[in-house]
Amino acid sequence: MAMIAKQCPNIDVKVVDINPKRIAQWNSDDLPIYEPGLLEVVQECRGRNLTFTTDVEKSIKEAQMIFISVNTPTKTFGTGAGRAANLEFVEKCARQIAKVSSGHKIVVEKSTLPVRTAEAVKTILSNSNHSATFDVLSNPEFLAEGTAVEDMQSPDRVLIGGESQDAINALVDVYAHWIPRERLLTTNLWSSELSKLAANAFLAQRVSSVNAISALCEATEADIDEVANAIGTDSRIGPKFLKASVGFGGSCFQKDILNLVYLCEYFGLPEVAEYWEQVVKMNDYQKRRFVTRIVRTLFNTVSDKKIAIWGFAFKKDTNDTRESAAIYVCRDLLEERAKISIYDPRVTEEQIRYALEQAMIGPDGRLTAASEKLLKDNVEIVGSSAAAADRAHAIAVLTEWDEFKTADFTAIYQSMQKPAFVFDGRNILKQSNLGNKGFQYYGIGS
Ligand code: UGA
Repeated sequence: MAMIAKQCPNIDVKVVDINPKRIAQWNSDDLPIYEPGLLEVVQECRGRNLTFTTDVEKSIKEAQMIFISVNTPTKTFGTGAGRAANLEFVEKCARQIAKVSSGHKIVVEKSTLPVRTAEAVKTILSNSNHSATFDVLSNPEFLAEGTAVEDMQSPDRVLIGGESQDAINALVDVYAHWIPRERLLTTNLWSSELSKLAANAFLAQRVSSVNAISALCEATEADIDEVANAIGTDSRIGPKFLKASVGFGGSCFQKDILNLVYLCEYFGLPEVAEYWEQVVKMNDYQKRRFVTRIVRTLFNTVSDKKIAIWGFAFKKDTNDTRESAAIYVCRDLLEERAKISIYDPRVTEEQIRYALEQAMIGPDGRLTAASEKLLKDNVEIVGSSAAAADRAHAIAVLTEWDEFKTADFTAIYQSMQKPAFVFDGRNILKQSNLGNKGFQYYGIGS
């Protein structure tokens, strides 16, 4: 919305949320999310044609076009638990829009949704209020965190699905302020909804594929970066999204694939469901494998050993930790009784502790006394990568933050227990010649 406000000074953009604390943060210079370049865009437009407010009803009444951009987490209860998307918030939005609207409005699904959700939204809108009429569009978002501003500024494509040509044209006109028309793709509603899930499934599949091959590289003398480079130069495959890692994270890939799996099962396509589910299973395997390698290499025990965790966010340039591989690696190391010392340049201590606590909660919804003790006694959060490594037996690199590449490895080596191990879950230190500095270096897939 900030980018639309920036590129379309003639359009008045209002961002509403029922959470006053969140809106206050958007109205300050301490935005609730870290995203390079975003503050500058917000500062440019705020007070001009970009407003953040909790006045939901008034804003709905005044709007000609309404984007539903609420979260659609994986259901944790009832039918489809662990797979299907929880559409509670989308439905509540639709009901509220229906309740307070008059005249004609275009409602745009921006949240990632299962195929045919637009139908549900349409049904709610057309049955609750007879004085208003609605068109529903699907306009999934393809930006990635950490590069959101760049991605919005110059997207590969914008996808708009709908039934009414007038409504489609209205949204095309918004994006056409800065995006070439040939990149504005229009489809039917269902294709648009499915394309979003399929795009994320294909991207995640590439990561799981390269990670699967990384396991084989570790068992042989092949090197995954060399293999990825060799396959990526085939123009039919292409070089992007072939970086082997400790596993993909983020709020989208796993959730969207599980949602796709649920849809396939629902429509009686178990083989298709199983095919895609394997992408998530491979990712879980990759995270577990990373911990197993650490434990085996540290002479089969990490109990009471200090392990430095470099990076907790699910990728660099974001403070988002949702589904971050770091959460699961830390949990498994704690279960092995390791002492972990975590440093991330952007994630707060509170957020790290909360994420770990959630990951250690048992199936009964409770934290055992043993887990509580591990979280209290075996986890520290520190202010630098050097502090995390101080007297540690090993460093585990879990996020590819640029600053890790320029750490003072000579001093760090001195401060560590010997032998000093580095497990590089992002293969960012491969070029740093850590072997020559005395470290035992283990990259992914080599
Ligand atoms: C992803 C998609 O890339 C976006 O197009 C989409 O809009 C977004 O989900 C969404 O559905 O909202 P995002 O999750 O922000 O974006 O970040 P990605 O850059 O896709 O990275 C996802 C995870 O895969 C990260 O943990 C990253 O480190 C990992 N990854 C990515 C690899 O391990 N290797 C790679 O080669 C690429």
